[in-house]
Amino acid sequence: MPTCSTSPLAEELRRKIRDRGPLPVADWMALCLGHPQHGYYTTRDPFGAAGDFTTAPEISQMFGELLGLWAAAAWQLMGAPVPVRLVELGPGRGTMMADVLRAARVLPAFRAAMTVHLVETSPVLERRQRETLAAAGVPIAWHHDLAAVPDGATIVLANEFFDSLPVHQAVKSVAGWHARTVGLAPDGRFVFDVGPEDPAVAAQVPEFWRSAPAGAIFEWRDDAVVQAIAARVARQGAALVVDYGHVDQDLGETLQAVRAHDFVDPLQNPGEADLTAHVDFCALARAAAAAGARVDGPVTQGGFLRQLGIATRADTLKAAAPQKAAEIDAALARLLDPAKTGMGSLFKALGLAHPSLLPLPGLDPAP
Ligand SMILES: C[S@@+](CC[C@H](N)C(=O)[O-])C[C@H]1O[C@@H](n2cnc3c(N)ncnc32)[C@H](O)[C@@H]1O
Repeated sequence: MPTCSTSPLAEELRRKIRDRGPLPVADWMALCLGHPQHGYYTTRDPFGAAGDFTTAPEISQMFGELLGLWAAAAWQLMGAPVPVRLVELGPGRGTMMADVLRAARVLPAFRAAMTVHLVETSPVLERRQRETLAAAGVPIAWHHDLAAVPDGATIVLANEFFDSLPVHQAVKSVAGWHARTVGLAPDGRFVFDVGPEDPAVAAQVPEFWRSAPAGAIFEWRDDAVVQAIAARVARQGAALVVDYGHVDQDLGETLQAVRAHDFVDPLQNPGEADLTAHVDFCALARAAAAAGARVDGPVTQGGFLRQLGIATRADTLKAAAPQKAAEIDAALARLLDPAKTGMGSLFKALGLAHPSLLPLPGLDPAP
């Protein structure tokens, strides 16, 4: 039986709901993750065995290194512009960027041309990134928003960034579509609720699902972030989005909360668990194309990393450190895991590019 959280964020959310009514699910998620004092990401470094979850760059240096080679190849496809902005959205501990920059040493002209821009809202993680990248040897600037990154030739990398952006939910009743919200039970527990029937919510649901049976749930995200990336690369650039999610749009809810590597109730202990939802790659691709970018992929993470040569990189690392062979093989297997819920299959890679660029590396759907 869920208990009543009494953390400062829970108390503030309760007051908000009592004053203004139930919160749309997207507002709940945004406040739980990004509340300026008590948000999940505002207050902690959640990565690793002692934290709540791990990500591909934290599993193995191979991931960031291959993305570094991808970025170097994309820069060449762009005609090797000087300067070039190398942007990472949601850089976590800075681990991936450190690996990207080390791998980019293979192309000194690329490193010499780049300024690095990290877009991060968490003060705790920004401090961690500054430590990780203190000796990176390239100019690095931090921003809270992509809009603050100066214009010009740009390469954008985003791993497990979109899954943490707020997701909206709509619920079907016999009467029509309603916003799904978070309200309060009489004993003060947070509970899912529904708003009034709302044609504006129904308009977000693709036409062929509007007459879905009562109880159906549809999720979507705002297009603003992917459209901002797409508009930028459509002027001059390329972007790579890697995340967990689906290629075929579907009904159903995917909002989930993870704490200490376990699934927990997304309404219990707000601000204490990571909240994410699947990325709808079909919606990302459609919004990016509408903003003028060419879309390459999506392909599975396994297919993408194989095309970039992860097996060869693993062999090189094992030859250099035979005592680490088992560890390297385990990381390789995890990143390429083809099971339905494994990282090699559930995670996808999507490229966005200026329409005149040759196809971006690793994103050929049928290698
Ligand atoms: C799941 S972590 C992924 C970290 C890293 N990319 C990795 O793969 O290890 C999500 C990252 O996005 C950041 N983040 C979440 N919402 C953000 C936003 N609206 N703008 C910028 N960064 C955000 C978090 O602070 C965190 O660094």
